Amino acid sequence: MALTFNLGTPVNTALFMYILYSVQRIIFPSVSRPKSIPNEFKAGYSWMPKAHPPTVLFKTFTPKMLEPFNGKDGGRILLAINGIVFDVTAGRNFYGPNGMYGNFAGRDASRGMAKQSFDLEMLTPLDQPLDKLEDLRPDEVDNMKGWIEHFSNKYIVCGKLVNDPMYADL
Ligand code: HEM
Repeated sequence: MALTFNLGTPVNTALFMYILYSVQRIIFPSVSRPKSIPNEFKAGYSWMPKAHPPTVLFKTFTPKMLEPFNGKDGGRILLAINGIVFDVTAGRNFYGPNGMYGNFAGRDASRGMAKQSFDLEMLTPLDQPLDKLEDLRPDEVDNMKGWIEHFSNKYIVCGKLVNDPMYADL
């Protein structure tokens, strides 16, 4: 029995119309554009975030300027190692008021990182010049550098620590 395509039957007509419609959609795809730029995911592209992501401004701090960023108010937590200021807010469990390394929050943590100690005497009092770290042994310097590498891979560098308020972004 030979198979013939008979347009007379309703099923074949419907199929034929559907194929015509599909071919038409392929040859002339819809180019309708949204009237406004979508900023939410609605089963399609999100072209813009809902809001601008928070930006971090690179700043120059003195130890006194850094101290308020100790997380005690629930805000940002910063610490410095060898003059590099890291935003460690994401590590609040470590550096928050109840964190194991809370002493370092808002402070120059260089000596503690070098000597692997979170004792309070590792911290330079805020009214004294920055710790020059000149007495550190080579292995302690290496240990500190290791921490700088760890922090650089994990946190955002958001500033540098200087002695002189003249060079700070007050
Ligand atoms: C009592 C001994 C200690 C224990 C049991 C301990 C335990 C830990 C643990 C479990 C972590 C988390 C590791 C991770 O999830 O990546 C960590 C991270 C860390 N530890 Fe210790 N630690 C000790 C001593 C110290 C000391 C003396 C220092 C002083 C510098 C120190 C500094 C740090 C730092 C800076 C981190 C990285 C936190 C971060 O990634 O932000 N730890 N420690």
